[in-house]
Formats: sequence, C-alpha cells, structure tokens
Amino acid sequence: MLEFFKGKRNHFVGIDFGTSSIKVVELSYENQKAKLENYGIVDLDLTSQFEKGNDNSVTSYEQRLNAALKGLIGRMKLPNGLQSYVSIPGFSGLITIIELPEMQSDELAKAIQFEAHKYIPSSLDEVAMSWEIIEHIDANKQLGQNLGKAGGKRIKVLLVAAPKKDIEHYDRLVSGVDLEVSAIELETFSIARSLVGDDAGNFFIIDIGSRATNMILLEKGVVMVNRNVDAGGSEITTTIADMMGISKQRSEAFKTGDKDLINSTESALIIPVLELIASESKRILNSYKEKNPNLRIDGIFLSGGSSKMKGLEQYFTKSLGMPVMIGNPWKKILYDEKAKPLIDVLGASFAVAIGLALRGLEEYKRK
Ligand SMILES: Nc1ncnc2c1ncn2[C@@H]1O[C@H](COP(=O)(O)OP(=O)(O)OP(=O)(O)O)[C@@H](O)[C@H]1O
Ligand SMILES: [Mg+2]
Repeated sequence: MLEFFKGKRNHFVGIDFGTSSIKVVELSYENQKAKLENYGIVDLDLTSQFEKGNDNSVTSYEQRLNAALKGLIGRMKLPNGLQSYVSIPGFSGLITIIELPEMQSDELAKAIQFEAHKYIPSSLDEVAMSWEIIEHIDANKQLGQNLGKAGGKRIKVLLVAAPKKDIEHYDRLVSGVDLEVSAIELETFSIARSLVGDDAGNFFIIDIGSRATNMILLEKGVVMVNRNVDAGGSEITTTIADMMGISKQRSEAFKTGDKDLINSTESALIIPVLELIASESKRILNSYKEKNPNLRIDGIFLSGGSSKMKGLEQYFTKSLGMPVMIGNPWKKILYDEKAKPLIDVLGASFAVAIGLALRGLEEYKRK
C-alpha cells in the first residue's frame, strides 16, 4: 500500500532549473529500457527581480520560480510523490581532483577538509561536501625508479562541494509541488551521464546555456576537469544587438534563425563569448594533454540551448582543431515517433534533465 502512495517506483523525474527555463522530464524503466513518459518546459522571464502583480503585490524571484514550476508540473499532470532528481547550476558548486598520499580513512577525511579550505572561500559549515577515491597511483612504479620516501603510494580524490543554502532552496521548491526529492546533484554530473554515460573513452563537453557555460573533461566516465564561465547565450544576444544596432528581441530571433552568422568568410560576426569559450576549452585540453601525454580525446560534444546556434559545430571544430559534434542526450531513450519533431527541437538543451532522471534509473537497476 505504502508503495502506491509513494508514487511509481520505476518512474523518475529530472528537473533542471536553468536561468532561462525550467526543464522537466519523466522516464520509466521497463524491460531493461529507458522510456520517455512525459516532458515539459517553461520559460522564465526573470530578467527583472521584482514584478508587480495585478493586485499590486510584489512577487519575489522565489515566488515566481515556484509559480512557474507549479504551473508546469500541473500542465504535465505529474502525479504526487514521483521520485525526482534535481540539479544545482554548475557555477554554484565545485568539482576538483586532489592528489594526496595514501592514508587511513579517518586521516583522509581530515586531510580533505584541510585541502577543501584552499578551494572554498566560505566557511565549510555552509557547504555540503562529498568525495571519492578515483585512482591509486604508485609513484615509484610510475617513474620507473625507486624514489624512497618522496614517491610512495598516492591517491586521486574527486572532491565535490555545493552551498547548503542552494540545496535547501531546490529541495523546498520541489517538495512544495508534492514530488519526492530523491537526490540533488551538480548539473555537471547530469550532463556527463546523459551525453557520455559509461562509454569508455575520454570526452570533452561544452554546455552553453543562457547565463553560463560549463566545460567538462571526462576520463573513462569520471569528471577530471570542470570549469564554469559566466558567459552564454544571453550575452551572445546582447553582442549581436549591439553590433547590429537592433533590439534584444530582434537579436534573439536573428540568433536563433537559419542564417550562419559566425562562419561566413565575408560577413562573420566576431562574438567575444564564443572566442572566450574556445580559448578556455583549448587551455583545458592542452593542459590536460601536457599532464597526460598518452591521453587521446575521443570526442568533443556541445550541449545546452545555445548549441543549436547555426554553424557552432563548424566554429568549434575549426578553433579546437578536432571534430566537434552536438551531443544527443536522447540517444538511449525510447520515445514515440510522434514526439520526434519536438524532441529534435529540444535537442541537447535537455541534457541536464535527462541526465538527472537517468540517475534514478541507474540507482533502481543497482537495487
Ligand atoms: N536555435 C538557437 N540558436 C542559438 N541559440 C539558441 C537557440 N535556441 C536556444 N538558444 C539559446 O539557448 C539559451 C538557453 O539555453 P539553455 O536552456 O541550455 O539555458 P539555461 O539552462 O536556461 O541557462 P543556464 O544553464 O545558463 O542557467 C538561450 O540563450 C537561447 O537564446
Ligand atoms: Mg542550463
């Protein structure tokens, strides 16, 4: 009986709170397959922090986010109690790899706390942290010589941290629409899961959203480098508006149109945001290759709503000197043919939401 009230146990909802929209997807797991059950998106016009309602009452950002989510979940007719997975924006958190000498687990916890202080400016009481040993290294063997004490056994630890207040904020929002919050994670992991999953190999992902861009380097499915820059589609719109002397509204329509604005030889626009993302990507890839000379990058994917910009694959292929493709988070999901045209439009902007729901599936499979 209790199971009934808790919502279907093989259905999983992913909720991505993006800057420009909230994206929700519901997947089910049956006959070893992930199936699309439901999806929805609501635009957030949150450019002004406060807005007067009809009765002249002032609604806060929080209230408007809440109303947008409630409306969307209502339109999707999602039953109460479904297990939901929620993301925290990449720029709110921290993912880093630290290398330490091998030690007992209680000593390790202390050493990690100590290391974390170097990366986290606020008090550690205000952040939720988790960590995982991802590699054991025998430094003596690696160098092919005995270095005595200087070498020895070392470990690589993946450290993840996010502000507790953000976690509580998203927990409150989702619990408020009567869904069960099963887990909250940094969107970096969601993107990695939906675009790469357990594909062996090394991949680099560039997720360009509205406010921010998230760059992720994965080695055999593990996030090894993560970098967020505060630049994305909304700034591209502003650049185009300024350059062409048009309104932001017209610029947005122009940007999302069929014309390739960035590759044509005579009239290509120089868009500083794209140059910044390309140079940061190059820096990450080069520095990683320098440290890991045997490493080969097997693929570079674009995702996020801005990946739909005409000519972007070609732009990055040229600037990074390697083939760049748009990632497809729907590739392992079964869905009705009728939904295909819309799914093609949503494309890689659903990478976070799908990755979140897939976490539910993975946990279910392991049970
Ligand atoms: N066809 C298109 N061409 C170019 N840009 C597009 C296209 N479609 C959508 N975009 C841009 O994608 C952006 C929204 O992407 P996305 O939904 O991934 O962002 P978000 O998740 O809301 O934001 P963030 O992740 O930064 O918080 C907007 O800036 C929008 O202008
Ligand atoms: Mg996003």
